[in-house]
Amino acid sequence: RFGSSQAASSALTNDVNEAEYADVDWDSLGFSLKPAGYMYAMKCARGGAFEKGEICPYGDIGISPAAGVLNYGQAIYEGTIAQRRQDGRVLLFRPELNANRMRMGAERMCMPSPSVDQFVDALKRIAQSNKRWVPPPGKGSLYIRPLLMGSGAILGLGPAPEYTFVVYASPAGNYFKERSASLNLYIEDEFHRSGRGGTGGVKSITNYGPVLKPLTRAKSMGFSEVLYLDSVEKKYIEELSACNIFIAKGNVISTPAATGMILEGVTRKSIIELARLSNYKVEERSIAIDELFDTDEVFCTGTAVGVADVGSITYKDKRIEYKTGANSVCGELGAMLAGIKNGVTEDKLGWTVEI
Ligand code: COI
Repeated sequence: RFGSSQAASSALTNDVNEAEYADVDWDSLGFSLKPAGYMYAMKCARGGAFEKGEICPYGDIGISPAAGVLNYGQAIYEGTIAQRRQDGRVLLFRPELNANRMRMGAERMCMPSPSVDQFVDALKRIAQSNKRWVPPPGKGSLYIRPLLMGSGAILGLGPAPEYTFVVYASPAGNYFKERSASLNLYIEDEFHRSGRGGTGGVKSITNYGPVLKPLTRAKSMGFSEVLYLDSVEKKYIEELSACNIFIAKGNVISTPAATGMILEGVTRKSIIELARLSNYKVEERSIAIDELFDTDEVFCTGTAVGVADVGSITYKDKRIEYKTGANSVCGELGAMLAGIKNGVTEDKLGWTVEI
């Protein structure tokens, strides 16, 4: 059974209170964990298939110290959101894209994966059961974290004998402490996020621990995030620790091509599609550092990060500054996407799913 901790029983007690909203300070949401009351979990054996998941109170899960995930990093995760419309209805954003990405990642990491229907159903059930934790319109979103891991115990290196799919959620606001101010990026040329043939293109947990060192170092120097370079030539930009990157010059928007080294973000894909519909020319290609010195704008995209403009990039002893603000390409496309996600703009593209 899952979710048998003290946190779980207090979630149950809270549930007796049928208030529309959970007891959260909605005006001060940042990106810190405020667990919503319920999580979703299901297990399956190696070589098997996931069958029936259950919603249970949020809480700790028991796991063997010999679990594949703890020793050999066999796990992938996703990030997606639910947002509340003005009329009170709650929308998920393109959950099938996360479902498909999890399936691809699971294949790379030798894990069974929930089907697309199971995944989307789990997200709907998480958003329904945690509706009180979905922030009021305009205050943020319910960030939903699906996690698939090798939970079975194993001594030798190999796929774990058992897998757990768990989904938990937390209300969230701005990812960066800068809030709506623009970001200052630092180009890292000692450490790399990804290598040829590695797992840079899937959302493996093993992509995230190793960036903590360069990220912590850059933050201690006052930067918001780290921009990584390709590990072969140290010449082409790839992505940040937690999001993708775009540059814009005139009517042309460019972003590093997804060739297995970068994560194909759902927000990245959505911005590419919206930009093309808005008559921008969009190029997915290699972008050399030199181009950063000759572009109007730089911006970042991610589920947690949203669409965030970059005010400066520092590379060695050079600092480049960019145009930011509501009249920028980033401002225009970011507002379009936000309108679709929160239901203020009509969703002609069918990207939102009502729970
Ligand atoms: C997301 O944007 O959902 C992510 O998974 C990035 C994570 C580092 C917060």
